[in-house]
Amino acid sequence: MQSPWKVFMVAPLFFLPPLQSLASPLYEDQSRLSHSNGHTCVGCVLVVSVIEQLAQVHNSTVQGAMERLCSYLPEKLFLKTTCYLIIDKFGSDIIKLLSADMNADVVCHTLEFCKQNIGQPLCHLYPLPKVAWEFTLEKARQIVKKSPILKYSGSGSDICSLPFLAKICQKIKLAIERSVPFKDVDSDKYSIFPTLRGYHWRGRDCNDSDESVYPGRRPNNWDVHQDSNCNGIWGVDPKDGVPYEKKFCEGSQPRGIILLGDSAGAHFHISPEWITASQMSLNSFISLPTALTDELDWPQLSGATGFLDSTVGIKEKSIYLRLWKRNHCNHRDYQNIARNGASSQNLKTFIESLSRHTMLDHPAIVIYAMIGNDVCNGKRDTVPAMTTPEKFYFNVMQTLKYLNSHLPKGSHVIFYGLPDGTFLWDNLHNRYHPLGQLNKDVTYAQLYSFLNCLQVSPCHGWMSSNKTLRTLTSERAEQLSNTLKKIAAKEKFTNFNLFYMEFAFHEIIQEWQKRGGQPWQLIEPVDGFHPNEVALLMLADRLWEKVQLQWPQVLGKENPFNPQIKEVFGDQGGH
Ligand SMILES: *[C@@H]1O[C@H](CO)[C@@H](O)[C@H](O)[C@H]1NC(C)=O
Ligand SMILES: *[C@@H]1O[C@H](CO)[C@@H](O)[C@H](O)[C@H]1NC(C)=O
Ligand SMILES: *[C@@H]1O[C@H](CO)[C@@H](O)[C@H](O)[C@H]1NC(C)=O
Repeated sequence: MQSPWKVFMVAPLFFLPPLQSLASPLYEDQSRLSHSNGHTCVGCVLVVSVIEQLAQVHNSTVQGAMERLCSYLPEKLFLKTTCYLIIDKFGSDIIKLLSADMNADVVCHTLEFCKQNIGQPLCHLYPLPKVAWEFTLEKARQIVKKSPILKYSGSGSDICSLPFLAKICQKIKLAIERSVPFKDVDSDKYSIFPTLRGYHWRGRDCNDSDESVYPGRRPNNWDVHQDSNCNGIWGVDPKDGVPYEKKFCEGSQPRGIILLGDSAGAHFHISPEWITASQMSLNSFISLPTALTDELDWPQLSGATGFLDSTVGIKEKSIYLRLWKRNHCNHRDYQNIARNGASSQNLKTFIESLSRHTMLDHPAIVIYAMIGNDVCNGKRDTVPAMTTPEKFYFNVMQTLKYLNSHLPKGSHVIFYGLPDGTFLWDNLHNRYHPLGQLNKDVTYAQLYSFLNCLQVSPCHGWMSSNKTLRTLTSERAEQLSNTLKKIAAKEKFTNFNLFYMEFAFHEIIQEWQKRGGQPWQLIEPVDGFHPNEVALLMLADRLWEKVQLQWPQVLGKENPFNPQIKEVFGDQGGH
């Protein structure tokens, strides 16, 4: 299973090698820690491109550009220090090569961050040099020969294995561990800390020293003495002695939202500012440390569980915010159980991080949104690696059985179908990637082909110039969607009702065009694959409207006490 995360974790952050291992061993499956040579190659090409373009934009030397890049990086997580360490080791070679007009592909092959294995194609992002590749590479090798270069001779997996980086890697791991002092993963899934699967991912804990206190539970003794479910409503009305939780929430049918999803559900996002030389400044990397400790996901702004105001200025709100607006008793009852690279198959490895007690907690709306990775992988021979409808059926039924034994009665499960990803190629292939905008030399078609060549594409099937392959991928996606539809129509479970909803990206595109937008504006610019914040919020809005129309019981009633809750409890303690 290729996780798109792998590719882009290393990419803009090639300079920040320890961060590859920062996948936080506590919370992440270990397979993430190993990176193929392909990821290192992508990372190198990206960073060298940025250095080259910074020099161009500021009319500076390569040395100046490298120093500029490091100076922009924050001190946090030793980002700046690591950057300086790396230019100290590789800087002089990069200077020599770029000064001799070699491009990033040549630089990275010369330094052996990219390798062409025997019998394998040559992978390159930029158009090939006019003179023969072999000749160019030989010339480049001559240029750096005199300096004893420290070749990238790690296992090809973790750049922390480079001796000069071992120490800093250790420091970063320690810094991260110390930043979550009270986190005890086994006993308490809720946190007072935002990142590392904290409250960016599920409702903030309101009493970290009491395990029986967490968002989504049925109130303990109507929360007379403390806010046992963290919804900000507790205590007793002095006027009549009635507990507020009873007065405002009893019979309001509170419920939470739980997403079982992939990188789209977690809102994977690499800021274009991190790789666009012409816009780069001291402010560009402010959000980087947080993003890194959130696995480059932004669940706090996602379509299902986002709770922050959108950064893109559209009126649509996440499912969670709409549930809260409908019934303020639902405050903080959200869980984003999504992982980069998640599929019907590997969901079983992390579904246990879902927190719901059949008796103690309120019912939940669970959205099952494995929208891509069952057909998306980076393999050269990608079709045989896709999930078959039979296997898919089996996987999904396993998940449903698990849910039936963990969700309170009266819950709801909504399947999201898979999209038809052909819009990616159709709308992006001849547009310039952020790296290619300055010199008009990298299109998405080139990026896709580079990633496919290295076998690190998040989705070879759709991110491909091969129309037959794209069509095959869409056909498989449709078969899998039909499998979900069939299960939803046939199967019955005691603790939840089951629904199917089409993943109607074409409807979002139409709506966006009606507002004067272009389809490509709905896709993450750096990875050329994920739906962006606008698309995610529009999709969430669509889902809400359809559910409200067809199955209003899923969403529950509007709570008539919302205004009083606001009057007594203000913002209910925030998020
Ligand atoms: C760039 O810098 C060089 C050397 O400092 C100078 O000769 C040249 O005029 C500069 N070009 C621009 C466009 O500023
Ligand atoms: C948190 O829980 C502990 C243990 O139950 C309790 O003593 C304390 O008062 C609680 N704190 C708040 C702010 O409710
Ligand atoms: C396109 O993809 C199909 C299906 O995988 C494959 O059979 C065919 O050889 C590919 N065509 C080219 C030109 O690679």
